[in-house]
Amino acid sequence: MARPVIWIPRRLSDATLKRAEASYECIINWEDGLSTADEIVAMSAVVDGIIPCHSELFTADVAARLDPRLKIIANHSVGVDHCDLSALAARGIAVTNTPDVLSDATAEIAMLLMLGAARRAIEGDHLVRTGAWNVWSPSFMVGKQVTGARLGIIGMGRVGRAFAAKARGFGMDIHYFNRTRLSADLEQGATFHSDIENLLNVSDFLSLHCPATPDTTGLMNAESFGMLPDGAVVVNTARGALIDEPALLAALHNGKLSAAGLDCFSSEPGGNPEFAAHQSIFMLPHIGSATVQTRDAMGFRALDNLDAYFAGKTPGDLL
Ligand code: DGY
Repeated sequence: MARPVIWIPRRLSDATLKRAEASYECIINWEDGLSTADEIVAMSAVVDGIIPCHSELFTADVAARLDPRLKIIANHSVGVDHCDLSALAARGIAVTNTPDVLSDATAEIAMLLMLGAARRAIEGDHLVRTGAWNVWSPSFMVGKQVTGARLGIIGMGRVGRAFAAKARGFGMDIHYFNRTRLSADLEQGATFHSDIENLLNVSDFLSLHCPATPDTTGLMNAESFGMLPDGAVVVNTARGALIDEPALLAALHNGKLSAAGLDCFSSEPGGNPEFAAHQSIFMLPHIGSATVQTRDAMGFRALDNLDAYFAGKTPGDLL
């Protein structure tokens, strides 16, 4: 029987590509560039499955134009806001993602951003690196301590819980908002807030770990920033759409926020050029899951889903 043909539009890990080529006829975009909607539509006529990243957009328009040959989109990402799930379901296309395997890597980046923002890492690095460090004083570069502070987490799924576990090791007092309250063994002593406003009121540090949906777009806006304690620090490793970026800048200007740590932006790649002038914003280029182990695990998880589908089974991560 002919092997299924799959399209891999981005440069996945070597181990992933090796395993993919052992099982499938692969069309690999070795140049690793972004694909336009027309290119995605054209490829759908010659492949049975695709392993896209969050950078390939399956909008309602693209979904409507996909060729019936395409059977499965096995995402190499946990987030699926780049896929119009109902439009793809209407076309009978299976969609999977890669949960679990990137939780620790993403939580590590959230910790890096939180500490870097709290302790003014960009400002300090700049001073030393540029040779401008010519003074030391007890009042110099004083930051915000995380130990003993209250950490609010919005979205206590796998990544939120992995971050809470790491923050607990730093002696933080964990609070969270989630659509449903966790069981005590998952809560691990964290305080549940049934509404976001109450959570924001106690969040000296706030970290976002919920998906981007129409309901959560602009979740952090002028009003919600205003509910935080003065001098709060906000961390986002989830999706840029969760934050109203002009409102974040305003909150930094008026002192509501003392700093922010961002791995995600409204516009990617590129980010927000207006942020560049602010050393109180510690920024990374959407690399939450970018470790060797995690990239392999994401690729393998996407392949596990494809393997199950083409073996006539239900993929473990079918959405
Ligand atoms: C994810 O998996 O959603 C990460 O943001 C990387 O794509």
